[in-house]
Amino acid sequence: MDLFGKDLICTQEWSREELMAVLDLAAKMKRDRFSDRYAHLLKNKTFFMFFYNPSVRTRQSFECAATELGGHAQFLEPKAMRLKTATTAGETIEDAAQVMSRYAAGLGIRILEDKVPYYGAGDELIREYAYWCSIPVISMAHDKFHPCQGLADLMGWAEWFGKGPGYPIDPSVLEGKKLLVTWGHGALARSWCSVQEALLIGSRFGMDVVLAHPEGYTLDPQVIEWTRQNCAANGRTFEETTEVRKGYEGAHVVYSRHWMSPQAYQDGEFLKQQEIEKALQYPEWICDADKMALTDNAIFTHPMPIDRGHEVTDEVASGPRSCIYDVAENRLHVQKAIMALTMA
Ligand code: CP
Repeated sequence: MDLFGKDLICTQEWSREELMAVLDLAAKMKRDRFSDRYAHLLKNKTFFMFFYNPSVRTRQSFECAATELGGHAQFLEPKAMRLKTATTAGETIEDAAQVMSRYAAGLGIRILEDKVPYYGAGDELIREYAYWCSIPVISMAHDKFHPCQGLADLMGWAEWFGKGPGYPIDPSVLEGKKLLVTWGHGALARSWCSVQEALLIGSRFGMDVVLAHPEGYTLDPQVIEWTRQNCAANGRTFEETTEVRKGYEGAHVVYSRHWMSPQAYQDGEFLKQQEIEKALQYPEWICDADKMALTDNAIFTHPMPIDRGHEVTDEVASGPRSCIYDVAENRLHVQKAIMALTMA
């Protein structure tokens, strides 16, 4: 299998074998983090990180990843690049992408819900860069998908249900486990990228999946259909419910996160304040100990940053069954593996 030069925009576009290659290498890199085997893989190479939106985990983990592979990660923002936009003259993606390809070994892009005029515009932008770039383009979270997060999630869940960190990842431990992805009320008006990636990768690896949300908060119909197809291909079930407690029954992994409604955009504008006010009307949509008691001793997972007190209580987020910091750590290891396989 040769992944050199391959873009990563959504895990659904990679085969299970390709995703396993990342997870296998990530586990080895986690076990033997500073080994000389990995310390020079990106020697003299630069990874461009192009951020339209802020970040804690993604920027820090990619910078550490590049350093640990012997390379360098360079931070870029659109305001420093004189790019053409809908309202301003400037350089086209065609030109910028081809020039960046002459300098760097890979390009990561983050563009989220509040930097685009409609859902899917970020996905279009990242795919236009991928079209013109001759280096791999990696989504660092865009309005539709967050593939690095999905891989880190799966690695963390498999560690919790398997032998633990330091051992090879055996995704079969997740087969037949029930993943609940549930909406949480919140004040952050979040994009769909992380939860959609979790639905896709959980269903790819044989989990039963339940998607729970209040009326009016469904996700991208294409992602729902892919999740349904993934579950069917594995002989597993997919269910969507608007009941707040039902999905918790017998769950093994609970993923509670706020996401925007499909009405978040009007006339090219992201209505952030309206989304926040609407979401706060559903205070019962919080992951708490009472609901977790309905599960089969589930772990709590979240990509972070967490909106504590809205999406989840402190008791659950900081409790003994919370895997949030393990998953956050795994961002580093999966991204090192992705960079090594696609850029080294
Ligand atoms: N989970 C995640 O991508 O975190 P940041 O937004 O802090 O990068």
